[in-house]
Amino acid sequence: MSILSLINQTNGGMIPHYYKEMAEGEMVTRILRIKQKFGEKLFIPGHHYQKDEVIQFADATGDSLQLAQVAQANKRAEFIVFCGVHFMAETADMLTNKEQVVVLPDMRAGCSMADMANMQQTNRAWKKLTEIYGDTMMPLTYVNSTAEIKAFTGRNGGATVTSSNASRILTWALTKKERILFLPDQHLGRNTAYDLGIPLSQMAVWDPIAEELIYEGDIQDVKMILWKGHCSVHEKFTVDNVRNIKDRDPEINVIVHPECSHEVVMLSDYNGSTKKIVDTINKAEPNSKWAIGTEMNLVKRIIKDHPDKQIESLNPDMCPCLTMNRIDLPHLLWSLEEIDKGKPTGIIRVNKEITLDAVTALNRMLNIS
Ligand code: 13P
Ligand code: SF4
Repeated sequence: MSILSLINQTNGGMIPHYYKEMAEGEMVTRILRIKQKFGEKLFIPGHHYQKDEVIQFADATGDSLQLAQVAQANKRAEFIVFCGVHFMAETADMLTNKEQVVVLPDMRAGCSMADMANMQQTNRAWKKLTEIYGDTMMPLTYVNSTAEIKAFTGRNGGATVTSSNASRILTWALTKKERILFLPDQHLGRNTAYDLGIPLSQMAVWDPIAEELIYEGDIQDVKMILWKGHCSVHEKFTVDNVRNIKDRDPEINVIVHPECSHEVVMLSDYNGSTKKIVDTINKAEPNSKWAIGTEMNLVKRIIKDHPDKQIESLNPDMCPCLTMNRIDLPHLLWSLEEIDKGKPTGIIRVNKEITLDAVTALNRMLNIS
């Protein structure tokens, strides 16, 4: 679902202006009061990219896989107020009971990468690719995709992946089918396949706008068909960023998210999900030096949590993920107060048919993870 359709779907509800003018202390007090009142009936998962002002209220924090797992495991909460982006809230809705209500505090919190693959494009791509490859393909989709794309994947024998299990899921998929259509992030697809020993010469790119397969050799040699999508935050980390930092100080360890380009990942020392980045720095030696290539709210938090280490952003001009940043203190308080009044706003509810097939893809992933 595009960001525009999300906004149009907000029950006509925009945040009342007075929330924007409220003092921070007042908002904190009100949020704490509601959390206390609801107890276990309210559950707030928070993705690592959320702002500190929001993350302080999270009952669980983590990467996309961890947040999907905790949402699925939680059977007590009546309301799940998801502090993350739309595809994460959709996943939580699909993995929880139908009585549980999932709320996204700001409907404008989409993910530009997830918007890079829609159903019309995907159906057309699958038809054209089937004409070339017959029944030899399995679709895999990064969880950063709409519920419809996950359902398409489930219907066609495939699974979802996250950045922390992509390697395991791709290994499984390649035991079932000869080639993979990987949506919508070409970089995670390329980085994961390369790590598993698939050479770049066996990877093609599907351009959903031009509707063509970009490949120079014999198309029958292709094993990975990479959807031409990317993350606009992670594409800002460049080869020059890594070279400049290494030239300045060869002792600096560079760790990046696998949504970065293949060239950047190859020059870096480590790569992995947001959980892997957090865990790696937690375990690092005091005084060790790190440059991190991921979203800025997380990098700033890691820097603050580790005064004993020298940590910086791989790109000094980096900014946060703007859609993740839509969730702020006023929106969190507003969504909690609407729940308290008995008229929750920003409800995420995926229709039954889509849920059925999407959960097939999600469960294949969760069972292998
Ligand atoms: P993680 O699953 O690594 O948290 O990544 C989610 C994401 O959107 C990264 O941009
Ligand atoms: Fe989407 Fe990129 Fe933001 Fe992650 S960082 S939520 S992939 S736009």
